Amino acid sequence: MKMPRRSPFLLAAIAALSLIIAPIFGRLHSRSQEVEQKQNRPWTDTRLSADERADLVLKEMTLDEKIDLVHGNGMPGWGKPRPNAHLGNGGAGFVLGVARLGIPIIQMSDAAYGVRSSGENGRYSTALPSNVASAASWDVHAACEYGELIGRELRAQGYNMTLGGGANITREPRNGRTFEYMGEDPILAGTLVGNRMKCEQAQHVIGDMKHYAVNDQESGRNEVDSIISKRALRESDLLAFEIGIGISNPGAVMCSYNALNGDYACENKYLLTDVLKKAWGFKGFVVSDWAGTHSTVKASAAGLDNEQPFDQFFGEKLKEAVKAGKVSAAELDDHVHRVLRAEFASGIIDYPAQKGVVDVEGGFETARRLAEQSTVLLKNSNGVLPLDRTKVHSIAIIGAHADMGMISGGGSAQVDPPGRAGAKWQEHVWFPTSPLKAVSARIPGASVQFDSGANRESAAELAKKSDVAIVFAHQWTSEGMDLPNLSLPDSQDGLIEAVAAANPSTVVVLETGTAVTMPWLEKVSGVMEAWYAGSKGADAVANLLFGDVNPSAKLPMTFPRSEADVPHPQVAAPAPGAKGVGEGMRPGDAKPTFSVHYDEGVKVGYKWYDAENKPVLFPFGYGLSYTTYSYSGLKVTPGKETTLTFTVKNTGSRAGAEIAEVYAALPASAGEPPKRLVGWSKMRLNSGESREVSLTIDPKYLSIFDESTDGWKLVPGEYSFMVGGSSQALPLNEKVMLK
Ligand code: BGC
Repeated sequence: MKMPRRSPFLLAAIAALSLIIAPIFGRLHSRSQEVEQKQNRPWTDTRLSADERADLVLKEMTLDEKIDLVHGNGMPGWGKPRPNAHLGNGGAGFVLGVARLGIPIIQMSDAAYGVRSSGENGRYSTALPSNVASAASWDVHAACEYGELIGRELRAQGYNMTLGGGANITREPRNGRTFEYMGEDPILAGTLVGNRMKCEQAQHVIGDMKHYAVNDQESGRNEVDSIISKRALRESDLLAFEIGIGISNPGAVMCSYNALNGDYACENKYLLTDVLKKAWGFKGFVVSDWAGTHSTVKASAAGLDNEQPFDQFFGEKLKEAVKAGKVSAAELDDHVHRVLRAEFASGIIDYPAQKGVVDVEGGFETARRLAEQSTVLLKNSNGVLPLDRTKVHSIAIIGAHADMGMISGGGSAQVDPPGRAGAKWQEHVWFPTSPLKAVSARIPGASVQFDSGANRESAAELAKKSDVAIVFAHQWTSEGMDLPNLSLPDSQDGLIEAVAAANPSTVVVLETGTAVTMPWLEKVSGVMEAWYAGSKGADAVANLLFGDVNPSAKLPMTFPRSEADVPHPQVAAPAPGAKGVGEGMRPGDAKPTFSVHYDEGVKVGYKWYDAENKPVLFPFGYGLSYTTYSYSGLKVTPGKETTLTFTVKNTGSRAGAEIAEVYAALPASAGEPPKRLVGWSKMRLNSGESREVSLTIDPKYLSIFDESTDGWKLVPGEYSFMVGGSSQALPLNEKVMLK
């Protein structure tokens, strides 16, 4: 058939018109799809609030679908895999979605200092410095970067929920999980964990804070009853959670294994409903620690929303309880609403996780920078540090594995190192960040030699013929164990003594999860606390040793002189026959078998040592720099919110970052320990530069918790405000009356 002839002009005009019209039609078409979806699935409308969207979904759900949202589906390696195990992503647990309504599966992964089990799942994640290390930076921006990195890497590995966010304060420094938490002060810990979680959740993963609450020792953790007064709880352990939750609104809070004042945390109405949901207005869901659920009706009524990783109590049994009217439909709906709300609020529905490749180099860079800000210089005498490249010609690097790696923290926090199979439970894992290589690279031409320290004599010999000896000492800790004491293990104290005797220019770099005692302290010239320093720990430490970076971190926990000085000279021992960690679940009607009495109450960490007049090895808030700072001009202006101004000056010859700490002493009638941290400010100052700092103190931080009225109250009277660079170096002091 012959086509009618059209003028070229007409053809061009039609083509041009179609170019204009096509996108309009396209847009109209996709808009009509959108409208149709909004009509069928009104919860996809992002203009609605997370609560409204959750309610719209809830209305459509069957009883079975609701039950699916409130329990787990097993954990790889724990018991027999479920028929639906293939739906998991290799993480600690998952919650089924409702595919017909467009609700995704919640894929959870542990992620304390990085995404767990990556090696095991054929993937890779960055290990950041441990959580207690990150607290030593006292830096909310660093905390945010920490969370952002983990959030990104979770999503790249197909997870949309983190199980990070440890917020237990350090009541018991021998607790094997101290490295997963943020130190001993509730305001410091709460502020940092809150900023970390806010930024992690902003990557569109459901955030989490754990272990709620007072799970402060691992020994017998599934059977222990933590006994503590309400006042001490609210002013210390719970305050850290309150602040962190207030800053980040996490999608979830994980209730802990232990009991608290008689009731297991995951069925403790006071903890879950009265405080968390009512007093603090928490809108997310409470997820049980793994197999930390003990009942159906009691736990549900107390405020547990989601059982993990199984369905022993919140599966069939909960369904039956709802049918029998033992758990009301409204109560179940509240659990489901909270789970759905967290999914909408975090954005995992609007921005589904896409698997991708982790930015390895970017992660290294962040890990190194954060480690530099987290490593605390504890001692520097005889001008040993920073190492002077013009004077030092030979360096001895001593310590087990110091030629190839640095130790990391174990348990469910464990991040797998690259290039090898996943770590086994409680395996000691060394990250391939080599102190020997990092130090050598920074001093070309010098002789840098290694000795493992296995033979003290040979280590001492090497130290003797070197200008400087650097001992890398380690203390491995993990979930599922407490330390017998705070000594360095494996006779490392003796090794350090021998090396220091051979060469007084000895520097000890500590790779520890918590405080350690230092019987050799007087004999060495330098000490650096590098904690578990992460993927690029060795580079960070080397940069600090040579002064390429000026140390700025300060201790987020006290280093006591000996275990005899801590509130409980012995860790409370489990009853004979108590089950160990992971040894199966306790039956539903089980009672705790032993207690730990936290009679020291609010006197946690430095508050204890202050109140008891016990000298310490290194105080809370302590940390040296290669420069010096002076403090002056404190003015306190009382008011509804008390404000302080003061000036900090860098009086040394190097640029640095100073953390200025503010403490308050309450009136004697408040019955509080001598002082508490109420604020701080971290600033960079060039040599000679000064800065006027202005801080407003949250009135709650100056208040006490009054059990008789179940509320916070400011005790009228005279308050002292003290400012300085450590809890025991506070040159500025001003008293004011507060009403
Ligand atoms: C730990 C939790 C962890 C969970 C899942 C438990 O043993 O206490 O912190 O999130 O396991 O791995």
